[in-house]
Amino acid sequence: LSLEPANKDKRLMKALRGETLDRPPIWLMRQAGRYLPEYRQTRSKSKDFLDLCYSPELATEVTHQPLRRFDLDAAILFADILLIPDALGQGVVFKEGEGPVLDAISDEAGLGKLNLDGVEKHLAPVFETVANLSASLADNVALIGFAGSPWTVASYMVGGRGSPDQRSVRIWAFREPDVFAKLIDLITEATVVYLRRQIDAGAEVIQLFDSWAAHLPDHEFDRWVIAPTAKIVSALRQSHPDVPVVGFPRGAGAAMMRYAAETGITAISLDSGVPVAWARENLQARLPVQGNLDPFTLVAGGKALEDEATRILRGFGTGPHVFNLGHGIVPETPPEHVARLVDIVTGWKV
Ligand code: CP3
Repeated sequence: LSLEPANKDKRLMKALRGETLDRPPIWLMRQAGRYLPEYRQTRSKSKDFLDLCYSPELATEVTHQPLRRFDLDAAILFADILLIPDALGQGVVFKEGEGPVLDAISDEAGLGKLNLDGVEKHLAPVFETVANLSASLADNVALIGFAGSPWTVASYMVGGRGSPDQRSVRIWAFREPDVFAKLIDLITEATVVYLRRQIDAGAEVIQLFDSWAAHLPDHEFDRWVIAPTAKIVSALRQSHPDVPVVGFPRGAGAAMMRYAAETGITAISLDSGVPVAWARENLQARLPVQGNLDPFTLVAGGKALEDEATRILRGFGTGPHVFNLGHGIVPETPPEHVARLVDIVTGWKV
């Protein structure tokens, strides 16, 4: 696969190749979503959230929406990390005001209901969305594809819903590691197929969301976070060696050092709790970093937003950096605050 000039000249691609730029590229986790009135409008045209994800025309539209308002350097495919359990045959429902609900799996019998065979066909509408986006985005905008990392996806499949401490999955993984490993392997395999097809359809960067990577003891972190992530990265490297993979091990703390060294990821996305000076020395010296503005500064706006954005721009300005949040934009964010942030970053000169 050869890189077309347009791809390699994009600001995001340069930063992910390790270049230090005059100002970092910027995109924002959850840049498409409920904080935008036009999103809520489009969303109301679909039966439910999953229907929106599986409607290429509507999903393409909502991916474009933030780019019409803000001068962002990348678009992220509109989809969800829970499309994988849905494609594997586990029922997923997004309940209004409640988040995702799944038929929890907690034993071998539950695993027996999952099936890899239908995954590619089930996710075909997503690949169509990627192809639409690849054809319609501006030349300077990079297209990011994504998936959840196996541990985080498993935490929803086993817990049946979001949970503050992932207790169901953590208990099962301790109690029956060899059975749980089968679930992790299945998710890993499905994810490789899913991401390869996204890249074939036009995704230029892949982000792996491990939103629930916090609080794991060493051995659990190695087995359930690092090992499956390394497997996915190495499979993608074999088929698509030039596509950068960004890992987001949210809340992993000091274990991020091992994550960065052992998974093979191209760049690491930092949550807001990671100290900038520490990350510059221990991570950015080795690989590009992404992050890590607290999403609540975007709700607060004003001086807090300016000060925090500037602190991060200064802190990471001497090495490869992608400006982003430490976690997704929250629904109560005023779009004008996002506009202000994008102005601060795009107007920045090192
Ligand atoms: O703009 C983008 O970032 C692209 C689309 C995207 C969504 N979800 C859309 C979405 C991406 C990249 C995700 C990732 C995702 N999904 C993660 C990892 C990142 C993170 O935030 O930690 C996780 C854990 C999920 C699972 C998920 N999806 C939950 C727990 C929920 C409900 C809670 C919530 O935030 O609403 C969702 C729903 C969801 N995914 C919405 C959107 C825009 C809101 C759904 C709606 O319109 O009602």
